[in-house]
Amino acid sequence: MTDAIYPAIRMRRTRVAPWSRRMVAETVLTPADLIWPLFVMEGAGVEEPIGSLPGVSRWSVDRIAERAREAEALGIPCIALFPNTPAALRSADGREALNPDNLMCRAIRAAKAAAPGVGVLTDVALDPYTSHGHDGLIDSHGNVMNDATSAVLVEQAAVQAEAGSDIIAPSDMMDGRVGAIRAALEAGGHHDVQIMAYAAKYASAYYGPFRDAVGTRGLLKGDKRGYQMDPANAEEALREVALDLAEGADTVMVKPGLPYLDIVRRVKERFAVPVFAYQVSGEYAMIEASVAAGAGDRDALVLETLIAFKRAGAAGVLTYHAPLAARLMGG
Ligand code: PBG
Repeated sequence: MTDAIYPAIRMRRTRVAPWSRRMVAETVLTPADLIWPLFVMEGAGVEEPIGSLPGVSRWSVDRIAERAREAEALGIPCIALFPNTPAALRSADGREALNPDNLMCRAIRAAKAAAPGVGVLTDVALDPYTSHGHDGLIDSHGNVMNDATSAVLVEQAAVQAEAGSDIIAPSDMMDGRVGAIRAALEAGGHHDVQIMAYAAKYASAYYGPFRDAVGTRGLLKGDKRGYQMDPANAEEALREVALDLAEGADTVMVKPGLPYLDIVRRVKERFAVPVFAYQVSGEYAMIEASVAAGAGDRDALVLETLIAFKRAGAAGVLTYHAPLAARLMGG
């Protein structure tokens, strides 16, 4: 069959008509493929635009509740919350992460009250709470200490689960933390709280605008290469995923997204579990910059990018373009 050639084979036959293109499409995008990351800040009635993420804002807790209802109306199944902790509450040990009334916990409760049918995913890592901007506790040399950090992350996860988080998403890359968090969730009666492990999270230059959004860019001393992965490595990502699954992760994430689709594909093929991709802040900013420069059409760029994630094997995508994409899909 493969040696049949032109004109018996005309690849264009199935492409000519829109109905036929739809009929043979191998991949479809729906609003259910989207997770919408949202930034939370103190105040009431506040929307604060983020300069390096044009079109994305920080919202006060009451307005996060509105966003949760908007997600519901658009058919977006899940939102992801990230707090911009007031500077006065950041400390070397990030203890505000354990405050059951911190910004994150209040936002979780508000979102769940406003739209109980929308999933809430919460990031577990200390960077929005530490005065040095690292994801964990640092020693006198500035190295993030694995086991001491993991112990705090377990408590942070428990606090978030108590507040109503549906999905705990450890983004810190400490060894062993997924198993420790799973054990604590089980012990605390949170059997149905999922863990989405940021399993393959790379030390990436694409996180810049996010660090503006949560207020860590100016604080971060050094870089995160001592715990996040080297962009040169792929087999190491498979080991990370294997470990997180063995420790009890329900789903895994690859991050960043588009530059790491090879990892998404390999993880999907090897493990056959739901793999999520995070199209991170720098990727969003690149699309917006290209639109601002007149180099591309936003709607087309967004949809083409998202279908690429699905084609690579992703079960869903965390993307700041989620509400736009859902509207474009008729959500
Ligand atoms: C923090 C965290 C980061 C992102 C998600 N969780 C930044 C970092 O690791 O420095 C990045 C998301 C984005 O860039 O959109 N643990």
